[in-house]
Amino acid sequence: MSKKSALLPGEKCDSKWAEVRKSGIHGRGMFAKKKIPAGTYIIEYKGERIDKDESNDRGWAQFDRAKETGDAAVYIFTLDDDWDVDGNVPENSARLINHSCDPNCESFIEEDKIWISAVRDIEKDEELFFNYGFDLENYEDHPCYCGSKKCVGYICGEDYWKKLKRKLAAKEGWKKRKKKDKKKKKKS
Ligand SMILES: C[S@@+](CC[C@H](N)C(=O)[O-])C[C@H]1O[C@@H](n2cnc3c(N)ncnc32)[C@H](O)[C@@H]1O
Ligand SMILES: [Zn+2]
Repeated sequence: MSKKSALLPGEKCDSKWAEVRKSGIHGRGMFAKKKIPAGTYIIEYKGERIDKDESNDRGWAQFDRAKETGDAAVYIFTLDDDWDVDGNVPENSARLINHSCDPNCESFIEEDKIWISAVRDIEKDEELFFNYGFDLENYEDHPCYCGSKKCVGYICGEDYWKKLKRKLAAKEGWKKRKKKDKKKKKKS
């Protein structure tokens, strides 16, 4: 993968630990510029603070756009019961961090700010990932290509993995039954 910065004109990245580069998983991502020790606060996830109504409207607008363009990217982060953060702004390069089912980073909220930190030591040039924590609503719109051994095939939070695996097994069983029925019909 190229080690060149892929920051576009007008975008900013103020992390001393990581930079934006082209990703082998999807579009652009963020990569370690140097070794990052576990626990390091790597970058703040910045954005526009919006209330839940506005967040809902933007979420639906994105949903409609995704139907037209196939771009299902989601940048809205829950801050608390009243407020969300829409990270789709050029000064927020943390918005480009991709998802993995076996991530080397996590997101957390501290004093009203969203941070991305390292959950283990990260080597120079490793791509940064966190788990987006999506629920299972529309999970089929979010296939996961993280390539990790733990990958569950779709972008969703670990809390939903059991349920997802049950859903996928049921779907597989249904497909097999349909195939069998088709074969039977052909024979008769
Ligand atoms: C917030 S954006 C991340 C930045 C994105 N790579 C870009 O260049 O704009 C989230 C979108 O990236 C893609 N993405 C992130 N992680 C992915 C993964 N593990 N597998 C497949 N697509 C992924 C999905 O399209 C997702 O909706
Ligand atoms: Zn995955």
